[in-house]
Order: sequence, then structure tokens, then C-alpha cells
Amino acid sequence: MPLRFDVLTLFPRMLDGLLSESILGRAVEAGFVEVGVHDLRKWCTDKHRTADDRPFGGGAGMVMKPEPAISAIESLATPGCLRIYLTPDGEPFNESMARELSGSPHVVLLSGHYEGIDQRIRETVIDREVSIGDYVLTNGTLPAAVLIDAIARFIPGVLGEEKSLTHESFTGKLLDFPQYTRPVEFRGKSVPEVLLSGNHAEIDKWRLAQRIEKTRQVRPDLLK
Ligand code: ADE
Repeated sequence: MPLRFDVLTLFPRMLDGLLSESILGRAVEAGFVEVGVHDLRKWCTDKHRTADDRPFGGGAGMVMKPEPAISAIESLATPGCLRIYLTPDGEPFNESMARELSGSPHVVLLSGHYEGIDQRIRETVIDREVSIGDYVLTNGTLPAAVLIDAIARFIPGVLGEEKSLTHESFTGKLLDFPQYTRPVEFRGKSVPEVLLSGNHAEIDKWRLAQRIEKTRQVRPDLLK
């Protein structure tokens, strides 16, 4: 059974290239992943297809109205599916959440916009609120694509070699080691001798030392 994603957004075309290119595109093509992209306006039933309105209590910006999003999610949801709202005030997304979510049969992703969404949407049809980082984007459509990409990598078969998942950044809480390919020398910079030595024990030792040093410099929080 493929993992099914349904994305609800006011900007469905933002996802066009993202879902058809590269490894994710191949995963869709090969049937490991299914993605439905839905324009929320389809569920805006009033004459002007209004998706948002002014906030009660005042304040800048517009708030997504409850009726369209709730009807949309109720019509897309299946028994056992997980309904996620993408928002900067959600729990931080990471590699272990991606692995966990790859075990779900069906994930519905709601992209919010502007100043946010009516609280009753969250309380009525959302199981989990997720943020992709401590910065604010204009809407949750890119974050939805980020989740799909990161989750799809954990579906067996999506990455050609299972091996490519095992010793990369984050799986062992260390950042990755530097990689080199031909030519051996380029603009006066040479590939480290040890990588040309054929001595695999020494190569592994060098790579681990590089990972620790890189992590210490860039992400010391991961070493705690
Ligand atoms: N929508 C806007 N910013 C976001 C973020 N950082 N994560 C998830 N959804 C968002």
C-alpha cells in the first residue's frame, strides 16, 4: 500500500514542480507515494469564495474561516489517518518524527496562511500541529512539501540504496563527513590522502573524526 498524502492549500500550484522532480517524483511515479493536492477554495461555498475574514478582537491580517477547512478535512480524512496543520507555533519537525509518520497509511496536511486559522479548525479536525523551524513563512504549503519529502525517504524502496539512510547526518545525531569525487586535484586542492589509501578502517576513523569536528563547530547542541 502506498503512503497517501492529501495537501489542502490556497496555493496548489506551489507544489507543481516539487512533487514531480527528483527522488520524490520517482517515488510518486513508482507508486510508493500518492499525493493529492486540493485547492481549499473548492470548499468555499459563498458567492465570493471567501477563505478568510477579519479577526475577532481586532488586530492585523486575516484569519482562515472555519467552515471550508473543516468540511475539506472531513471529506478527505479516512479512518486512521493523521491530520496535520503546518504552523510556526507547532511542535518542531525532525528526523524521528519523519520516520514515525512514514508508518502512517494516510496523512492529511493543512496549509494555513496570513495571520493564522480559526482556533476551532485546530480543535475540530487537527491531530497534530507541526512547525518546520523557527521562522515564519507566508503560508504552510512549502512546509507541507518539506514533510512529504522527509517522510517519503523512510518508505522502503524510495531511496535506491537502503544504505544511504544509515550513516548520514542526524541518523546518529552527528553531521555528515565531507565527500570527494574525481578529480583528485582541483584548483590546487587535493582529496585527503586517507580516502585514496584503500584502508577502510582508517577511512572510517577519519570520517568519524570529521563528523565530530563538524558537529562541534556547527551544531554543538547535538553533542550534549
Ligand atoms: N507556516 C508558516 N511558517 C511555518 C513554519 N515555520 N512551519 C510550518 N508552517 C508554517
